[in-house]
Amino acid sequence: MKNLLVTGGAGFIGTNFVYYWLNKYPEDHIVVLDALTYAGNKANLSEAQKNPKFEFVHGNILDETLVESLLIHHKIDTIVHFAAESHVDRSIHGPDEFINTNIVGTHTLLKAAKKIWLDDKPQNHRFHHISTDEVYGSLKPNDPPFTETTPYAPNSPYAASKAASDHLVRAYHKTYGLQVTISNCSNNYGPYQFPEKLIPLIITNILNGKPLPVYGDGKQIRDWLYVDDHNLGVDLILEKGKIGETYNIGGNNEWTNIDIVKLACDLIYNKFSKNKDLVKTFSNCPSSQGKHPETLITHVKDRLGHDRRYAINAEKITSDLGYSPRESFETGIKKTLDWVLENKKWWRKIMDKSFMEWVNCNYD
Ligand code: NAD
Ligand code: DAU
Repeated sequence: MKNLLVTGGAGFIGTNFVYYWLNKYPEDHIVVLDALTYAGNKANLSEAQKNPKFEFVHGNILDETLVESLLIHHKIDTIVHFAAESHVDRSIHGPDEFINTNIVGTHTLLKAAKKIWLDDKPQNHRFHHISTDEVYGSLKPNDPPFTETTPYAPNSPYAASKAASDHLVRAYHKTYGLQVTISNCSNNYGPYQFPEKLIPLIITNILNGKPLPVYGDGKQIRDWLYVDDHNLGVDLILEKGKIGETYNIGGNNEWTNIDIVKLACDLIYNKFSKNKDLVKTFSNCPSSQGKHPETLITHVKDRLGHDRRYAINAEKITSDLGYSPRESFETGIKKTLDWVLENKKWWRKIMDKSFMEWVNCNYD
């Protein structure tokens, strides 16, 4: 039985992780620590809050005293560290929060974990750090995918802050013997993803009849993985991963952005032609008037320092831990679209005035 502290559990991947874990390991206890930034949503966890083995704590990973007291009070033996500023465009407009949360915040957690788990009363423990493939930089069209030994070459302030946090986690293992693991995952998609990220932004904009902003030529490539296949990888690492090791997680699923946008347009067009209720609910969607949403595609100014291609080689986690994604892209994207269609209250609340102001200023 484990007692987990899940940081950032009210965000996209953290929320999915909490439900994944409570469902698979009902005997475990979970405490979520989340600062509820613009990306955090306590209501995501309303079902989890009915479970007596779950607790939500509104607080910041930068608060060392709070983290120490949670580790002691809840007898935490496992930290799964998701909390971060996660959006590349925001890091370009304002990097400071990325340095604070992603670097200083991770270091605060490491210090607290070392004090409670190693210095005060040594005990078996695990610190799992959630990281990203963006730390490896950008690939050329024919380069082999990133492996765990690809040199770090982060290009955005977000990627640089995640790279720094990975190095700190590794250093706490090498220097102090903290029992750490790290995972570097490719682009996730699925339920609860904040609609500033490509896939939920495109789906919700199609439904609202708004332009679909494609940065530059749209030929940049990302390697997409359904969120619970990321959580499956983290699960295997927590259960069977080797202390001090890094594991890449990915789905061998490279797509250009423009093809993703066109796929979302096709899926929605086909769904609306078969379901008249959708026409009533989303009257601003072009498909409600029988039109194909591709007319909404708008090429906008490119992202500064935009990485051209990411691709993950997941051979290590596959061969060492038996990892294999469960969801195909076809099934995962349909599940995601259905979730967005069924949860319009969730995203309409988020796409408020301040969010839309931010999105619009991103294209200036
Ligand atoms: P998200 O932005 O949706 O959620 C981040 C969560 O962290 C939010 O709930 C937010 O309130 C919380 N948070 C932020 N600052 C905090 C602080 N100082 N103290 C406590 N909580 C704080 O992010 P996500 O997409 O779910 O990403 C989660 C993790 O996975 C991040 O570490 C990210 O780098 C990594 N990752 C994301 C992807 C992806 O495609 N989304 C892929 C690979 C890795
Ligand atoms: O690779 C893993 C990373 O994936 C995570 O570490 C990050 O937290 C996560 O945000 C994501 O980063 P990306 O920058 O790849 O994701 P995003 O959804 O912002 O953009 C995906 C691609 O789509 C990217 O090439 C930029 C492009 N894009 C994005 C938006 C929001 C557009 O063309 N138009 C848009 O409006």
